[in-house]
Amino acid sequence: MPPHPVSAKIRRMQNEATPSTLESVRNYYGKVLSSSQDLKTNACCLPGAVPAHLREKIARIHPEVQDRFYGCGSPIPSALEGATVLDLGCGTGRDVYLLSQLVGPKGRVIGVDMTEEQLAVARKHLDWHMKLFGYSQPNVEFHQGYIEDLATLGIRDGSIDVVISNCVVNLSPDKRRVFSEIFRVLKPGGELLFSDVFSGRRIPEPLTKDPVLLGECLSGALYKEDFRRLMRDMGCLDFRVVNKSPLAVTEPSVKAKLGNIDFYSITFRAFKLGLEDLCEDYGQVATYLGTLADAPHAFELDDHHRLEKGRPMLVCGNTAAMLQDTRYAAHFRVQGDRSVHFGVFPCGPTPGATMAAGSGSNGGAAAVCSPGGGCC
Ligand SMILES: C[S@@+](CC[C@H](N)C(=O)[O-])C[C@H]1O[C@@H](n2cnc3c(N)ncnc32)[C@H](O)[C@@H]1O
Repeated sequence: MPPHPVSAKIRRMQNEATPSTLESVRNYYGKVLSSSQDLKTNACCLPGAVPAHLREKIARIHPEVQDRFYGCGSPIPSALEGATVLDLGCGTGRDVYLLSQLVGPKGRVIGVDMTEEQLAVARKHLDWHMKLFGYSQPNVEFHQGYIEDLATLGIRDGSIDVVISNCVVNLSPDKRRVFSEIFRVLKPGGELLFSDVFSGRRIPEPLTKDPVLLGECLSGALYKEDFRRLMRDMGCLDFRVVNKSPLAVTEPSVKAKLGNIDFYSITFRAFKLGLEDLCEDYGQVATYLGTLADAPHAFELDDHHRLEKGRPMLVCGNTAAMLQDTRYAAHFRVQGDRSVHFGVFPCGPTPGATMAAGSGSNGGAAAVCSPGGGCC
């Protein structure tokens, strides 16, 4: 990939209808904040539980990189060895350096961010990390650019195994373009795993211009149902909630501006697969082989699919595809195909449900099927 030039396309983006949003966010992360201590809320920096197998790898990351970690989740999947992973809005590179250890010397991690100050910290410690991890050649690279325009960075169609992002998409003035780029660059069967801030209602326009509310990852948050519609428009008819927690805004001045808007930190998983808009039953059965080093006893696909090692589980056609048509295939035995259809998969009774109720892409506890949102 060539070094990033300030191309005409990027200049055009800077001059487009929303330059103030990009400028305001760049200023917040480049000039206003100098560590996560400076944040006014914890929306961009949730102290959520880090999976045990990642803790010791995070402990090896340089303190200056860690001090400027502004993520709201842990969008780090399994089965990464040898993979090409793209981190959108990588900041100072906390997740990039974590992924560097997981993809190994044959893998590659590409971090993209628009803020020079963030990238300067990331690049400053590149050699230090490569030496610590024992790599003779760097397996990470950082590019200054926009997540809405990955083509300018030379990221080709169908070239990426996994896209991750940690608390960034909410900051984008053009989320449709971000997701369109994600699905362009993913390989067939590739995975998107991202943690972000979502809202339970649309945010009034004036609040989206407030530099602090925006920079704190609140007023740019996507309304959950608009996210579902956006994914449907991208051709992604079934995506899954991996975890979800309500986000409490406690800072009085911020709370006063936001009123009754409810926020959530959610980690979503989606695949570049031709999935159906409802879970359909083809009598398929999936068994986890227990072969992922970080999941010796069970694999958690989402918040309601925990596949125990060796235990056959009846799955819908979409789940079967997620397990057998992706890089997870080597770790599962999936029996049956789609030659015989048994009707809608028996995962719940609520047609037309929204993400506010139900499970899977619908976000709650009971399993629900929802056109345009998927379910099981
Ligand atoms: C909340 S921070 C998260 C950084 C990093 N993911 C982490 O977990 O520490 C948001 C980052 O996204 C970057 N960013 C925001 N909007 C962007 C855009 N449209 N294109 C590229 N980078 C963007 C900011 O510069 C900032 O570094």
